[in-house]
Amino acid sequence: MERSLILIKPDAVQRCIAGEIIARLEKRGLKIVAMKMLRMDKALAERHYAIHREKPFFNDLVKFITSGPIIAAVFDGENAVESIRQMMGATDPKKAAPGTIRADLGLNMEHNMIHGSDSVENAEKEISIFFKPEEVLTYTREIDRWVTGS
Ligand code: RTP
Ligand code: MG
Repeated sequence: MERSLILIKPDAVQRCIAGEIIARLEKRGLKIVAMKMLRMDKALAERHYAIHREKPFFNDLVKFITSGPIIAAVFDGENAVESIRQMMGATDPKKAAPGTIRADLGLNMEHNMIHGSDSVENAEKEISIFFKPEEVLTYTREIDRWVTGS
């Protein structure tokens, strides 16, 4: 099974749409294995978005992601990274496919509601930024089924 880090961004928390986003991911069959609410500080934001350090939008991105509380969560499931990226839609909500989180709920390039890891490698790195190993549970699918007989 695969894990991905998601962040419910400050715009989604402020607009009280966090639950809807989490519900969409859960309904797809992905399992929450870690979750916390926090307000990112500048150092954490710069670490999380380090790959964009040289980009012209970096300072605005850090300012936005630290502007209010967020929810960080780890979702576990088959093909979790790609599934979540598909469900998120394109970075710009105006270009995102209908039915995706960003198309349905996002407002613009900055207020695009959700972050999701873009590769399995980055997912593991990002998870370790937000969670200690013991804070991430292991989901056992062996018991997630109906059993007939005794
Ligand atoms: P995220 O990392 O937040 O999940 O978003 P993403 O993968 O879809 O997009 P990414 O390229 O990683 O960019 C991170 C965030 O930076 C802002 N951005 N602005 N003005 C621009 O050209 C621009 N490009 C990216 C977006 O808010 C994006 O979510
Ligand atoms: Mg990204």
